[in-house]
Amino acid sequence: MCGIVGIVSNKSVVKPLIDGLKSLEYRGYDSAGVAVINDHQPINIKQVGRVELLDQEVTHNDEAMNAIIGIGHTRWATHGAPTTINAHPHSNSSNTIFVVHNGIIENFKEIKILLENEGYKFISDTDTEVIPHLIDYYLKTEKTFKQAFTRALDDLHGAYAIAALYTKTPDSIYVARLSSPLLIGIGNKENYVASDASAIINHTKQVVYLKDYEMAVLTNKSVKIHNFKRKTEIIPKTEELDFDLEKAKLGNFPNYLLKEIFDSPETVRLASAGRVRSGSNIIKLGGLENVKEQLKYIDRIVIAACGTSYYAGLVGEYLIEEIAGLPVEVQLASEFKYRSEPFSRSTALIAISQSGETADTIAAIKKVENYGVLKLGIVNAIGSTISRITDAGVYCHAGPELSVASTKAFIAQVTVLTEIALSLSNGNSPLFKPLVDELSILPEKIVSILGQSKNIEQLAKKYSKYKDFIFMGRGYAYPCALEGALKLKELTYIHAEGYAAGEMKHGPLAMIDANFPTFVIATDSTMTDKTLSNISEIKARGGPIIALVSEGNKSIKSYTDDVIYVPKTLEQTQPLVVATALHLFAYHMAMALGRNVDRPRNLAKSVTVE
Ligand code: G6P
Repeated sequence: MCGIVGIVSNKSVVKPLIDGLKSLEYRGYDSAGVAVINDHQPINIKQVGRVELLDQEVTHNDEAMNAIIGIGHTRWATHGAPTTINAHPHSNSSNTIFVVHNGIIENFKEIKILLENEGYKFISDTDTEVIPHLIDYYLKTEKTFKQAFTRALDDLHGAYAIAALYTKTPDSIYVARLSSPLLIGIGNKENYVASDASAIINHTKQVVYLKDYEMAVLTNKSVKIHNFKRKTEIIPKTEELDFDLEKAKLGNFPNYLLKEIFDSPETVRLASAGRVRSGSNIIKLGGLENVKEQLKYIDRIVIAACGTSYYAGLVGEYLIEEIAGLPVEVQLASEFKYRSEPFSRSTALIAISQSGETADTIAAIKKVENYGVLKLGIVNAIGSTISRITDAGVYCHAGPELSVASTKAFIAQVTVLTEIALSLSNGNSPLFKPLVDELSILPEKIVSILGQSKNIEQLAKKYSKYKDFIFMGRGYAYPCALEGALKLKELTYIHAEGYAAGEMKHGPLAMIDANFPTFVIATDSTMTDKTLSNISEIKARGGPIIALVSEGNKSIKSYTDDVIYVPKTLEQTQPLVVATALHLFAYHMAMALGRNVDRPRNLAKSVTVE
């Protein structure tokens, strides 16, 4: 999704600006641009496609290379196609004001009509273009750019993170946020602004997170923040970024996706470190300590999330209900926020998000703010919006996840949900000891699945010719089937559906023929026999079958075309081993089809708009 970076310095900013944009590439984008000011002269360069192309163009421009102030943007098209004209930065007609923007200006049409009536001309299809024109309009009556900028902000509805330049104040970057992340980096004789810490981490770890309705003016010597709604000055609160660059490095892996799938064993270890100890009957979740008393009175849990995080939530539903005996409901955050459902103060909301910035999940949290509901987060990105607007939470500690499709974050989320379920059971569940013991040996079991990568690759080569897939499973295997189908469709663009095996007879069976393979998850459980019946029904209709089963299941071969074996584990920890195998399968299918596995078409890593 869109990314912002801005730098004001006493030396050339072009290279660090471009590097910042490159580190935002993983979020998904279709065009990029920078605006810099050199000796009061603006230079605005935009390109469709890779930041690399923009880099080549900018570095050949000597004027641009001398600039010591600039803003840059990677765009993921929402209003208007990915073209150079629609790419950011956008400017006013006299080319004195330049703006980059993340989010959506919901009332842009109304503003555009008003400005057109005042004689303003628009050249792009974007919502963003109203911002420089609106500031220009207010500059006619306001004394300073800051005042005109603030007047414009007052008019904007929706979500935004904005950075702006004005050629007549060439030492300042003006920034503001509402419901879209923005942080300021404090450097030595230079200051930065970015929508994502990865864009500035090479330069500074000292950051100030802007809050809603805050705007700031950055020069290379100072950062001045004020709340434009309450009209008050804000004293910047500097925090230290916890972001491990080493962990984000590719090493010998050909792409981030494979690296992140191979991070899975370590991910379970990191998400369990200091929390789960074999032999102990307590789970130590430091992030929930301050709400320990409130948790005693919780009698219902609602989980809200999107995408892969939603499927982790579905696994969490099974875990918390079985282990802690609490009723759980999992909702898609995009639906949850518009539903009218009753809440009581004894309900806890758990928002799950890798990035901590997903707009719908943030909106779900905001929705319950006035109900007295306890707001908890399961978040990977430290310091992200969700980690800051929830009452308490548990970090995933999976390290940076750069590939658009989420893999290791799912593993971390399910590990954390297992820990939360165990913690809520207060040690009273008969599953407590077996699960605690199993979690400590699980990383080794995941390692053994990774060891089958070559076999799974062979299998993928055989199946990559098919155009449709169905994934099915029962119990804990059901949310895994949904995750397996999602991963396959997002990485390969093959049509794939996830189904509860028991539902096959209620519709999907009609689609089965020799060209429609089924991926069955039939790991050992009390329901394996029932799943075997479903396999027979598919076989009888000539559908090819790949089965994912527990080691030692010899009989399965007579029912299926191909088998993937995973190590035996408790039913409750099966999603962690099963998901790793499914992630590998989707990965190798995508590679067999020559897809860009780190950046699937049309998708974004961090979905910061509705
Ligand atoms: C996007 C990503 C998915 C992710 C989902 C939720 O769609 O491509 O991989 O699962 O957003 O993101 P979150 O950061 O909230 O977990």
